[in-house]
Amino acid sequence: MRMPSSRRSFLASIGAAGVGALAAARPAHALPWLSARGREAVAGQAPRLARSAADLILLNSNENPYGPASDAIDAVMRMFGVSSRYPDAPEEELRAAIAANHKVAAESVLIGCGSTEILAIATDAFTSATRGLLSVAPSFETPRDVAVRKGIPMEALAVDGSFRIDLQAMYERCRGAGMLFICNPNNPTGTLHGIGDLVHFIGQVNARSPESYVLVDEAYFEYVADPTYGTAIPEAVRNPRVVVSRTFSKVFGLAGLRAGYAIAHPDTIRMLEPYRIPSGVNVFAAAAAIASLELPEHLVRQQTLNAQARAYAVSAMQQLGFAVVPSHTNFFLTDIKRDPRAFQSAMRARGVAVGRLFPPLATHARISIGTMDEMRTAMAVAAEVLGGA
Ligand SMILES: Cc1ncc(COP(=O)(O)O)c(C=O)c1O
Repeated sequence: MRMPSSRRSFLASIGAAGVGALAAARPAHALPWLSARGREAVAGQAPRLARSAADLILLNSNENPYGPASDAIDAVMRMFGVSSRYPDAPEEELRAAIAANHKVAAESVLIGCGSTEILAIATDAFTSATRGLLSVAPSFETPRDVAVRKGIPMEALAVDGSFRIDLQAMYERCRGAGMLFICNPNNPTGTLHGIGDLVHFIGQVNARSPESYVLVDEAYFEYVADPTYGTAIPEAVRNPRVVVSRTFSKVFGLAGLRAGYAIAHPDTIRMLEPYRIPSGVNVFAAAAAIASLELPEHLVRQQTLNAQARAYAVSAMQQLGFAVVPSHTNFFLTDIKRDPRAFQSAMRARGVAVGRLFPPLATHARISIGTMDEMRTAMAVAAEVLGGA
């Protein structure tokens, strides 16, 4: 991929200021937790704040257990030299890099402090006391949380019998809504809709409720292998009532750095822009995200490792006698036939953190995919705690 000229100049300037001035004076090994590669390497040398997390197997937040790519860590190291400056240039470079990666105009991109900021901004901008939020239960909760906090009318429609978002029910309820939230694949169910069905649904919603916006959250996009699945980005770029959100927190392994983005029609991005926190993406997050976009082989490796560990864990749960909702993501939902809160506490007491209760589901637990070793340990602990169906 050809690098935009502004990006070349930014990276070149970082080369002089960052690497030259700082890294030489303070080599990578002076910061052992940063120069380490992955969570296993971090255990034992982590700074104080990270230590409690390093003692647990973390299968509760759908993170990437392998950490960032080496190139992303190197990119972070080079940024200390400019970390006394506001991130204007890195933010612009990230916006340009995302635009180039998706082959859209920079005006169609809005970057955020994680995609959480994007979801919050969209809910803020598109809903009001008279135009409510239409969401799904269970689904990712940021839009709902923002609506509830602001006292905005909110309706969350139950998933269907296959734990998929009920598009027909959403269509029937969409009239007058400020925003419809479609998490595809959906967290915490791991289910999805094919792109043909989704675009058809969007067209129906546009016809029935022309003022409503549809926010499509594609946080787990990179993990999906289903041939019917696809991104709604082309629809979002041409249809001013559609926004797609993405994140660097999942397959790219940058959850702790905080970077995400929206892609939409330039007019829609202009509407959202005033709501964002100025300088909300810091220099380290921007550099790591730019570097991560350029590592297609790393991405494929993460997808493969995730698919292998997920296949193992799903089969282990099924052998214990528990049904698993077929997942397209780096987590799965399983019916443990008891209160997931008790399961969560018992697992945590044995060193494994798993997901919480997801109302209205009363007996399902969500387990994120870690490394194969972590999943072997976690499944042995789950067998002990659950004792078979
Ligand atoms: C569906 C979905 N959207 C958005 C997010 C927020 O991610 P972040 O703010 O780290 O980009 C998450 C995090 O788990 C998620 O599952």
